[in-house]
Amino acid sequence: MTKKLYIETVGCQMNVLDSELVVASLRKHDYELTDSTTDADTILFNTCSVRQHAEDKIYSALGRLKNAKKSNPNKIIGVLGCMAQKDQRLIFQRAPFVDLIVGPGQLHQVPDLIKEVEAGAGQQLEVSLGRKEGSRDQIERSHESFDPLRDPAMRPTPFQAYVRIQIGCDKFCTYCIVPSVRGPEQSRPPFQILSEAQQLADEGCKEIILLGQTVNSYRFRDGEQETRLSDLLYSLHEIDGIERIKFITNYPKDMTDDLLEAVRDLPKCSKYLHVPIQTASNRLLERMKRGYTVEEYLVMMDRIREWLPEVAVTSDFIVGFCGETEEDFQLTCDLVREQRFKNSFIFKYSERPGTKGAEHYPDDVPDEVKRRRNNELLAIQNTISEEDNQRFLGQEVEVLVEGPSKASLKSDANNDSQQVQLTGRTMCDRIVVFDGNRRQIGQTLPVKIYDASIHTLFGLVVTQHVGPELFSLRT
Ligand code: 5AD
Ligand code: SF4
Repeated sequence: MTKKLYIETVGCQMNVLDSELVVASLRKHDYELTDSTTDADTILFNTCSVRQHAEDKIYSALGRLKNAKKSNPNKIIGVLGCMAQKDQRLIFQRAPFVDLIVGPGQLHQVPDLIKEVEAGAGQQLEVSLGRKEGSRDQIERSHESFDPLRDPAMRPTPFQAYVRIQIGCDKFCTYCIVPSVRGPEQSRPPFQILSEAQQLADEGCKEIILLGQTVNSYRFRDGEQETRLSDLLYSLHEIDGIERIKFITNYPKDMTDDLLEAVRDLPKCSKYLHVPIQTASNRLLERMKRGYTVEEYLVMMDRIREWLPEVAVTSDFIVGFCGETEEDFQLTCDLVREQRFKNSFIFKYSERPGTKGAEHYPDDVPDEVKRRRNNELLAIQNTISEEDNQRFLGQEVEVLVEGPSKASLKSDANNDSQQVQLTGRTMCDRIVVFDGNRRQIGQTLPVKIYDASIHTLFGLVVTQHVGPELFSLRT
């Protein structure tokens, strides 16, 4: 009998991909997806620990389910991912009705663990070893979960898919929980990545997005031979059907010339780089243990622009990190004004117990100051993004059409019509919205831009080949 699965995902693209793999494995056990927690036989939360807010969201969602088993005592509730790895049994204490807790390295076990619960074996907990709970080799193995199963319904769109090329992180930035919940940095063997990309291309996927916490640190050694991200890009570029390749997120120190050269020379590579700096204060960069100075980051930006003059660069920032003064913050504002990123992702510092940051430095910037700095930096970035987008007015761009726009999905009026507002992205990751037809979804189309806002370009599909005679026949 078919069973119903409700799955909710928070956090980064890695989690979106993990959820895809979990859904694929449960479909093999006769599960289908549902949008309703009431109808669901199994409810899973794939969680994030990067900031407190993401955890609070899950604990409140769990709180809302505390009576869910009254109507259906066989309902299974599971917590997966980073918060499962971080909080472990604490989740059972805070939400005793939870049946399973599964870390990011054990997701392939979810179907079996559900069966155990169904068989009456009680609460199940499967997590990886902590960073001090074994040899590097043992810890690495406990985090390995390179499940090749895929599920098209769980992808960002049918034409785009994430491909994991690396797991874990060894950078240990002092504010960050990722190295302890996702384990040691491990690069996936190239042949696995290539065969997965080939499979995705065979399924009609046109864009692949390579994922790693520090994706450009990718290095796979096999005897004498070393494969770097640039080598991988050349190989992936050969796959017919794949039109675009993106990779996120980059670590500034590993932005080497061979990689920039590959992005320049490979037409399928998106001209888009996400390279977080976090702050423009050297004092704070050192406290964060980011491993570079502002000056080194700026030299890297110069190199990026030399190799790739048209590239779009985006960055992450943490405001209100321990000891951040107004002067520190102003340095960050100045850098954002000067560097003119396409976009900046700005976060208020959230202390993570267990990190070096939490251990050594007090979280001493008041929340209202963090909020004010967040808004101020965002306002600076928004002005730049809007100005930057204005440059596209009158230009023609190539758009990979992803699907109906958010606005058209909200309005029911359009639902049955073929004519619909569509959204897609340019080669440099800019969002474009235009009126079109559903059959254009998945195509790459020339679009002429006539308007621009902070986050969106508005355009018209260019239909150059309709001559005046044809036009009069159609009207
Ligand atoms: N508090 C706030 N932001 C954080 N990030 C990582 N850890 C924290 C934290 N403790 C941000 C960084 C990173 C992005 C994914 O999340 O900017 O690049
Ligand atoms: Fe966290 Fe730093 Fe690793 Fe990024 S590089 S995942 S911020 S520890």
